[in-house]
Amino acid sequence: MKVRINGKVFEIPKGVRFGELSHEIEKAGIEFGCTDGQCGVCVARVLKGLECLNEPSETEEETLWRIGAVDEEERLTCQLIIEDESCDEIEIESED
Ligand code: FES
Repeated sequence: MKVRINGKVFEIPKGVRFGELSHEIEKAGIEFGCTDGQCGVCVARVLKGLECLNEPSETEEETLWRIGAVDEEERLTCQLIIEDESCDEIEIESED
């Protein structure tokens, strides 16, 4: 499904954790480190399609809290998984 990341469009299938595609997604300017939800460098804001993504895991919640990302729309890009394809598109933007 169509995922717009900092304006760049990717085709990402349902069920794939975005961290597995970090080498592709970093071309859109998202920084990755651990890719397993612990370092927090990949934090971004989901502008569209949050309802089609997985809920954050406990690890992701803890990392988000530690880095002060308290809005529901703020997520760790590496941890995102598309669970529902009913959204037109998913749009994500990093905040720098
Ligand atoms: S790359 Fe470390 S939390 Fe996403």
